[in-house]
Amino acid sequence: MNIRIGTRRRVTLAAGLFTAAVLTVAATQSSSAASTLGAQAAQSGRYFGTAVANYKLSDGTYSGILDREFNMITPENEMKWDTTEPSRGSFNFGPADSIVSHAQAHGQRMRGHTLVWHSQLPSWVSSISDANTLRSVMNNHITQEMSHYKGKIYAWDVVNEAFADGSSNHRSSVFQNVLGNGFIEEAFKTARSVDSSAKLCYNDYNIEDWNAAKTQGVYNMVKDFKSRGVPIDCVGFQSHFGTGGPPSNFQTTLSNFAALGVDVQITELDIAQASSTNYSNTVRACMNVSRCTGITVWGIRDSDSWRSGDSPLLFDNNGNKKAAYSAVLSALGG
Ligand code: XIL
Repeated sequence: MNIRIGTRRRVTLAAGLFTAAVLTVAATQSSSAASTLGAQAAQSGRYFGTAVANYKLSDGTYSGILDREFNMITPENEMKWDTTEPSRGSFNFGPADSIVSHAQAHGQRMRGHTLVWHSQLPSWVSSISDANTLRSVMNNHITQEMSHYKGKIYAWDVVNEAFADGSSNHRSSVFQNVLGNGFIEEAFKTARSVDSSAKLCYNDYNIEDWNAAKTQGVYNMVKDFKSRGVPIDCVGFQSHFGTGGPPSNFQTTLSNFAALGVDVQITELDIAQASSTNYSNTVRACMNVSRCTGITVWGIRDSDSWRSGDSPLLFDNNGNKKAAYSAVLSALGG
């Protein structure tokens, strides 16, 4: 009798240990080994996104990868001014609406891109020379587009690429030339008044190297905005890199901006030749900064890229995972 009870106890103990071991393995797997970019990024509270072109959504290979791997979408062109307000006061949200419905149907969040930018800007805007007219046109464009998407956008690139390369100054543009330096803060104030729940971002390229004059110019603008209470919530680092990959001080740049009290995101990542090392260094820079809330690559397959000649993305022309894909997946693991 005693022996049999003892045996049962040992069996119970062994079963308990087995259950504990299974639970430990399961917990370890769920916190470190997701099999897609979006799920892996989500384990650290981040997202992994891509740029999407509306006309490609009907391509099954494209949308299959999109819906399997990505949980944030930036419309590649469909929310830009030349598409959304091709002539004054006449708005066209059809192409972007179709991306937004796709995102909603597949549990993906959206980055709005972009409200005020010198490029892909219709000539009816770039030819305005009267300040009052341009101010009202700019504010109306922000108001109409943000109102249309109110409640559906995680973050807006309110102003895109307003700084000049190789300097700390604003670039020449119709907004800068007609409205002066104040156009950027005016755009952010208008944006906040329209949708107070969307995050409002400044987005630019060549601001990843902490030592670059352009980076310092943007940093000083964000610092000034924060000190004067101008609404800004985030800075997007486009991160269109060459074969050299990210600058070695990219993480310093991200953490210095974050220390100003804004979130930071990698918003348009692509790297010429897509080396695994360059991709994983980029992802690690974000992972090491707690306010780096997510990473978006600028397209799915190399053939989808605006720089397709550089083969800069994570999937080849047939939609197969490249070596850089695995490097990114593992860098997202911590
Ligand atoms: C690019 C798109 O990928 C192209 O399809 C389009 O012809 C030009 O614009 N910075 C940005 C993005 O903020 O909107 C740009 O996207 C790439 C550079």
